[in-house]
Amino acid sequence: MLERAAISRRSFADDVQYGLTQPQKELQPWYFYDGLGSALFAAICELPEYYLTRAETEILQRNASAIVGAFGTVDRVIELGSGDGRKTRLLLEPIAKPFTYVPIDVDASVLEASARDLLSSFPAMHVDAICADYREIATLIAPAPHTVVLFLGSSIGNLDPASAAAMFRQVRSILTPGNSIFLGADLQKSKEIIEPAYNDSLGVTASFNLNLLARINRELGGRFDLASFEHRAFFNERESRIEMHLVSRRKQSVAIDGLQMNVEFEEGETIHTENSYKYRESDLQMLARESGFEIDQIWTDSRNWFADALLVAR
Ligand code: AVJ
Repeated sequence: MLERAAISRRSFADDVQYGLTQPQKELQPWYFYDGLGSALFAAICELPEYYLTRAETEILQRNASAIVGAFGTVDRVIELGSGDGRKTRLLLEPIAKPFTYVPIDVDASVLEASARDLLSSFPAMHVDAICADYREIATLIAPAPHTVVLFLGSSIGNLDPASAAAMFRQVRSILTPGNSIFLGADLQKSKEIIEPAYNDSLGVTASFNLNLLARINRELGGRFDLASFEHRAFFNERESRIEMHLVSRRKQSVAIDGLQMNVEFEEGETIHTENSYKYRESDLQMLARESGFEIDQIWTDSRNWFADALLVAR
């Protein structure tokens, strides 16, 4: 049932080596999600400050049957970055006839658990789980009619606008006209609301961020002292994105034995670990137009903080 894609272009080791030797040090956000990282993200979704999950759940609970009705005939549901599948089940429920569910996620542990979970609720469903980076979707999936792609939870926020459009063109290439992608995006709003969502008072987001260094220690023989780095998240208004960084509290040199390298940090120097772009409705329109889709409908939550859009392939 679970297929591990062997085509992933680069390994964690390669990306760490590359990212930590750039002038602005960086690590890619999909490496947050090892077993512990997925568990920490599930905890983030429960935080009072992290409004995104609750807002999207409200949209799905209120509109599930209308949304699924707008999908038209569905034989196959592909989900990009499926995670624990808790919101997904709200959309699978109203699908009347048997279908195939294809969750794609980089974390095998969350993929297996969620597939088992969903199968016990929807025994007639067929599951083809794929453990892979969903940005390579066109190499993973063959086109077939009556397909809908789910891309929930504002995962699109991790991609800069050009990469988002490139990825959507890839998604478009495995669809036929009339098929759709259902996209969740966090909307632009004041930074007084956005910033606390990434600076929660329990420190779960800080742990989620620092787990990247812990993962390098576990998997690559890194010698990061987690106490000498701190979490920083702020809204970059000009780019309309949250940026997350890990800040070195002092000048230090860190060995990564498995990569046979030393990484030098100045006091205050950062590793850029994530972007989370916030969208306007016009950004969604532009994304759709650039990638061969048309927006059929947009649903928002009662506070207008989050949007789910149905983009239909032209
Ligand atoms: C899973 C990418 C949607 O950007 O809000 C949560 C990840 N990072 N808290 C987001 C995240 C810090 C999340 N996404």
